[in-house]
Amino acid sequence: RLLIIDFGSQVTQLIARRLRELNVYCEIHPYNLLTDDILRGLAPKAVILSGGPDSVTREGSPRAPQAVFDLGVPVFGICYGQQVMMEQLGGRVEAGHHAEYGRAFIAPAEGHKGDGIFAGLFDTGREEVWMSHGDRVTALAPGFEVIGTSLGAPFAMIADEARRFYAVQFHPEVHHTPRGRIMLENFVRMAGFTGDWTMAGYRDEAIRKIREQVGDKKVICGLSGGVDSSVAAVLIHEAIGDQLTCVFVDHGLLRLNEAQEVVTMFRDNYNIPLIHADESELFLGALEGVSDPEVKRKTIGRLFIDVFQRYASGIEGAEFLAQGTLYPDVIESVSFSGGPSVTIKSHHNVGGLPEKMGLKLVEPLRELFKDEVRALGRELGLPEKFIGRHPFPGPGLAIRCPGEITREKLDILRKADAVFIDQIRKHGLYDEIWQAFVAILPVRTVGVMGDGRTYDYACALRAVTSVDGMTADYYPFTHDFLGETATRIINEVKGINRCTYDITSKPPGTIEWE
Ligand code: XMP
Repeated sequence: RLLIIDFGSQVTQLIARRLRELNVYCEIHPYNLLTDDILRGLAPKAVILSGGPDSVTREGSPRAPQAVFDLGVPVFGICYGQQVMMEQLGGRVEAGHHAEYGRAFIAPAEGHKGDGIFAGLFDTGREEVWMSHGDRVTALAPGFEVIGTSLGAPFAMIADEARRFYAVQFHPEVHHTPRGRIMLENFVRMAGFTGDWTMAGYRDEAIRKIREQVGDKKVICGLSGGVDSSVAAVLIHEAIGDQLTCVFVDHGLLRLNEAQEVVTMFRDNYNIPLIHADESELFLGALEGVSDPEVKRKTIGRLFIDVFQRYASGIEGAEFLAQGTLYPDVIESVSFSGGPSVTIKSHHNVGGLPEKMGLKLVEPLRELFKDEVRALGRELGLPEKFIGRHPFPGPGLAIRCPGEITREKLDILRKADAVFIDQIRKHGLYDEIWQAFVAILPVRTVGVMGDGRTYDYACALRAVTSVDGMTADYYPFTHDFLGETATRIINEVKGINRCTYDITSKPPGTIEWE
């Protein structure tokens, strides 16, 4: 494996992504959970030191386990990783005065056209890169030489070819370093990775591990209808068959026909034992009169756990709970963000449930990114339409219905949403969009249809592009598309007489309305 030591950069996960794209298996480990012994135990074939927000000049700032440099394997330091490397190997780093953020250009140092991990660069004379640093290296550690320089960073690219240590001041993992991929590819090839990590291999290995972990015990899995829990369920079913039971909690806040689609897929296509817990009365009853978004979220989260627990405790002998936890969730939960972050929204999950019920966790997707989960889903033969689905939040339509939730509004919302998605599919835009939906607004407005006056709800269409849901921009539909969609919604959905398009990015907006 390749080991990425994380010093807390915002973009560490992108390093892992790029490596996965090269079919190299890698793991991210936070620097503070590693010791020399743990590191040796992991026996990585190569190590990458990530960027990070701290300054190596600050006393007590993060360091890599010293053993990294004694393993005899290639090491690549990025940004803070470069500075750590210099600091630990006998170079010097200075703080302040030389901050560089954004685009920069690297010119080859005299006598260097670029080789080793920099092979294939500089054919156009200079390399465009993305910088984000306040400190910089001012003296190289013994054995290193300069390969490339920028205006603000005289040691932007450095190498110690004899030890196969490389370091850069910029971020090769981001898209704004157009040829960063070449450096990463050169690095993994040099380390002896052949790029043979595939989804089929992953699937077989995951099945083996599930069998080993679960033995002849029973597993329960909460299904949301989303891609992650579905892929986890199908994978586990392939591993242990009917030792798995799925529980699908229908809170009455799903999209049009969604419950039926999920139930059909699992029962009819896969023959997976499934309990369809129709608890819409319970949820909608508890939400009556509630308009505060956090109260909505907390109510749904609490009931979800209650209901799940009620059904799950009826499954005799269950010792494991399966979850579709993804790699980004794992990383977020171990990252050290420097301080408590503000709760923008209480996310809906079943955290705490395993301890409460005395269940052990099965999380076969823990090592995967979202698009890899989709690839695994394909490998497992899930229908393409299901795999490509936009994310859907746990609290469902409740958070797309600002103000009080009523059955009437939910019905209207479902129909409008279905028309919008139909339009997007018909125009071939579905896969370009991260997420699209309708929100029904808590206002009625006056309109005229035929010769009559209408006084109906207004709705907002929302469609965004994003890579991870953390930041997003509105999708630039054509005016024709928007006009046609508004007309269809108002004509086809009784109860809506006005349609708007939400063009807020995230930040400052969020994707969902609540
Ligand atoms: P926001 O609205 O915070 O959403 O910009 C970012 C992404 O997360 C989804 N989302 C949720 N997903 N439980 C979930 O499983 C939740 O409580 C939840 N809230 C938001 C949202 O749909 C978007 O994809």
